[in-house]
Amino acid sequence: MRPCVVLLFVVSLLTLCEAQGTIETPVFVLKGRDLLLELHADLPEKFSFVDWKINKTVDLVRIESSGEPNVFKDFTGRLEFPDKHFSVILKNLQEADSGVYSAEAVTPTEDKPLTEYKVTVQGPVSPVKQIVDRVDSSISESCDLHVTCRTHNSHINSTFRCVDQNCSQEGGERPEVTTSGASLQVYLLNSTIICNHSNQVNWTQAFNTTEHFCSSNASPFHYGWVPAICTVTLVITAALHV
Ligand SMILES: *[C@@H]1O[C@H](CO)[C@@H](O)[C@H](O)[C@H]1NC(C)=O
Ligand SMILES: *[C@@H]1O[C@H](CO)[C@@H](O)[C@H](O)[C@H]1NC(C)=O
Repeated sequence: MRPCVVLLFVVSLLTLCEAQGTIETPVFVLKGRDLLLELHADLPEKFSFVDWKINKTVDLVRIESSGEPNVFKDFTGRLEFPDKHFSVILKNLQEADSGVYSAEAVTPTEDKPLTEYKVTVQGPVSPVKQIVDRVDSSISESCDLHVTCRTHNSHINSTFRCVDQNCSQEGGERPEVTTSGASLQVYLLNSTIICNHSNQVNWTQAFNTTEHFCSSNASPFHYGWVPAICTVTLVITAALHV
């Protein structure tokens, strides 16, 4: 069996970018969840306030050195303060809350950058369906499964060849990034074909076992060549109409 690469998640949480002396930490949040913005920096000896902002322009809260928060009007009721160390919880995130969140210490002489988070809010991904379009078991002793993974706005095809219950992925399309930024992929794990639809915070899957379609005796789907040619013709016709 060919080794298969299982890329369930492409989380780049460890990719840190240096920016102006602070480190911009990427964070992905599921829509509706809360976000903890922690202060990971030493405060200057003398400062008047800690300001949290989005994109350096939208004011969230100004926290006095005593720890007393003054929440700006648009965020009334959405912020909580879990400790006395200038950290902030923003509640119920929506896609529009995505942006760069930064904290600065305001001193008489300068605004000192402290912490930055690059926050991306993502919705849950839609369900994925797995369709076995065709089973070719007439060719020698191998059994070929033609599989489509389909979501509401994208699809991806692949072919799996099984000989004596040993299956391998014979080809097909590379993982596809859908219009909503999610990734759609199809792969084999042991004898299970898996469709995986995922973004950085959420995933849906659909499964089929190859044994179900390629049993050693008789295949329950012995379609043969004629319908296969018809399907190919249909696919070509469909392609020409796109
Ligand atoms: C921050 O900037 C990004 C990129 O310019 C923008 O997409 C996002 O809506 C902004 N966020 C807020 C809360 O204004
Ligand atoms: C797949 O097979 C390997 C070894 O053959 C086994 O260790 C592993 O648990 C199996 N994985 C699943 C998900 O069945």
